[in-house]
Amino acid sequence: MKKILILNGPNLNLLGTREPDQYGHATLADVEALCVSTGQRLGLAVECFQSNWEGALIDKIHEYGRLFKCGGALGCVFNPGALTHTSIALHDAIKGVDGLPVVECHISNVHAREGFRHHSWVSPAAAGIVVGFGVEGYTLAMEGLVRKALGAASTHTHI
Ligand code: DQA
Repeated sequence: MKKILILNGPNLNLLGTREPDQYGHATLADVEALCVSTGQRLGLAVECFQSNWEGALIDKIHEYGRLFKCGGALGCVFNPGALTHTSIALHDAIKGVDGLPVVECHISNVHAREGFRHHSWVSPAAAGIVVGFGVEGYTLAMEGLVRKALGAASTHTHI
């Protein structure tokens, strides 16, 4: 069974109590449980990882880049939090592992918010973007990764 990584960046451990008007009342544990049950439905083993540290997120992307290359991973759903708007290092990590499909996911519609949230360094390196669907966006992103892999399977024999 292939693995899928649900990667969450800074402050997403505060979900449930953090600005509920923006992010709702679901906790990170609720989101991770939702992703695990979606993974069961899709036939994927789900690993969830959250860190407030940029380097820990980069290390995890590198780990999954290696796993993807040996056929053990389908991809990654990534909510980089505020690092979305500041981190060239995350952009470089995704580009650097060369192949791992990463779907960028935001709970809120960042484009309907402050101007500083409109730019993403991650988007140009992402395989797709899901924005503004609340925590259901994580499941949409997981389904999108499966669809992309199936699309690739019809043109590449190694999947
Ligand atoms: C967020 C949007 C970011 O701008 C913000 O810094 C977050 C959460 C979202 O999921 O909507 O931490 O990524």
